Amino acid sequence: MSTPSILTVNNIEVIYDHVILVLKGVSMSVPRGKIVALMGANGAGKSTTLKSISTLLRGERGDVTKAALNSTASASTS
Ligand SMILES: Nc1ncnc2c1ncn2[C@@H]1O[C@H](COP(=O)(O)OP(=O)(O)O)[C@@H](O)[C@H]1O
Ligand SMILES: [Mg+2]
Repeated sequence: MSTPSILTVNNIEVIYDHVILVLKGVSMSVPRGKIVALMGANGAGKSTTLKSISTLLRGERGDVTKAALNSTASASTS
């Protein structure tokens, strides 16, 4: 059986200011106990991806307009 993911990002789309499409079809998953690196050129959308996961996007007038984020991480680190 594969390691369960504590985070899945499934085909999200993010738009800033209702018009600026910056993420389209972004998917990733983070298995429990693993480290995942997000790499890309300047302006590729790394920070936007992390802001959508961490709920900081709304503060920048960004919206996840398609698909879903799912986190099963708990506060416990044991
Ligand atoms: N608050 C914002 N409003 C409008 N556009 C933004 C905003 N933040 C980032 N962008 C644009 O979204 C794109 C992705 O930026 P960003 O997620 O910061 O990329 P990275 O972190 O990979 O350098 C860039 O074109 C950037 O100009
Ligand atoms: Mg960045």
